Amino acid sequence: MHIHKYEKWWLIFGTGTLIVFLIVLGVSAFHGGTHPNNSKWTINYEKVDEIAPFNNPGIHKVEGKDWDYEVVLVAQAFAYTPMELEIPVGSKVRFIATTKDVIHGFEVAGTNINMMLEPGYVSEKITTVDKVGEYTIVCNEYCGTGHTLMYSTLKVVDPNDNSN
Ligand code: CUA
Repeated sequence: MHIHKYEKWWLIFGTGTLIVFLIVLGVSAFHGGTHPNNSKWTINYEKVDEIAPFNNPGIHKVEGKDWDYEVVLVAQAFAYTPMELEIPVGSKVRFIATTKDVIHGFEVAGTNINMMLEPGYVSEKITTVDKVGEYTIVCNEYCGTGHTLMYSTLKVVDPNDNSN
């Protein structure tokens, strides 16, 4: 069978592109940890305020668990509750988050914390905050006219440093 030269190039290009995309997808899924919620924990998004633990959003110190703090976070157009987070450096933190309306994102820029918050589902992430600094939290899912205004701050602080 004779394949025209240009057609052969296109076939190689097409197959190559496919392979590149599959590699990118594989690396982000297995190495980068990008994946959808495991969907095991569901919630009535219209009653988020009444359902524990979301009836008490905030940073809670916990005892006897594998982590030191639980951050209970509620997103809605166009803000997060609590508005600002402050956690001592070196803490192991379990983030538990959901949304009251549409899909929002919860990305802590410069870290591996990046969750998609979907109505009806609870997203979780356990991680250790090991570097002092102020991190910008951004909503990375387009959620409406106020999307660009939807951000917050995570302060990772050194409790022994009195200068701040
Ligand atoms: Cu919330 Cu974009």
